[in-house]
Amino acid sequence: MTDNLVFRMQHLALEVVDMERSIEFYRSFLDMKLSERHPAGEVEAIPVELCFMRLGSVHHDLVLVHNPVKSYEPRPETPSADRVGPPSFHHFAFECKDRAAWLTMLNKAEDLGLKIVRGPVVHSPWDPRGDGSWGENESFYVLDPDNHRIEIFCEMANIDSDGTYVNARGERIENARAEEV
Ligand SMILES: [Fe+2]
Repeated sequence: MTDNLVFRMQHLALEVVDMERSIEFYRSFLDMKLSERHPAGEVEAIPVELCFMRLGSVHHDLVLVHNPVKSYEPRPETPSADRVGPPSFHHFAFECKDRAAWLTMLNKAEDLGLKIVRGPVVHSPWDPRGDGSWGENESFYVLDPDNHRIEIFCEMANIDSDGTYVNARGERIENARAEEV
C-alpha cells in the first residue's frame, strides 16, 4: 500500500451510444453486474442516463453514461486515427488476477467473436518475448460496442523502493529503473 493520500485510480465513466448494447457487452465479456440504473433527469442536476456496473462487491467500477439529446459521432477503431477533436482517452484496462485468468479471458474474447485489435503481447523491452514497450505485463486489446479500446492484462511489474522493476516472477530487472522513486 502506498503512503499517498490517494492510493488508486478507480472507476471510469464512459459515454455510450446504446445503453442496452453496452450493458450486454460488459455483462457477457467481463461478467459485470448492474448495481443501479437511472434515467436522464431523475436527479435534476444529472441530465444523462447512468448505469453503475461492478466487478465485485464495490458499488461501481464502471459507469455507463448516455446523453439522450446528444448526436454521437462514431469513434475510430484506432484512437490515434483521430485528426481533429478534443483530447480523448486512448484505452482503459482491466487486470486479471493471474496469467491463467488472463488466458481464460483471451479464450473468452475469441469465443465471443470479439476482434482482438492488439496482442496478445508482452509489454517489455527486456523480456525476450517483449514487444519493446513498457510495464512488463501481458495484454490483449478489444473494442467495446462504441470502439472504446479495452486492455485486458496480467502481471504488471512492481517498482521497488529503489526504483528497480520487479516482474511477476519476483525477478529484479537490471537497468530497469523508474524515473522517479
Ligand atoms: Fe495500457
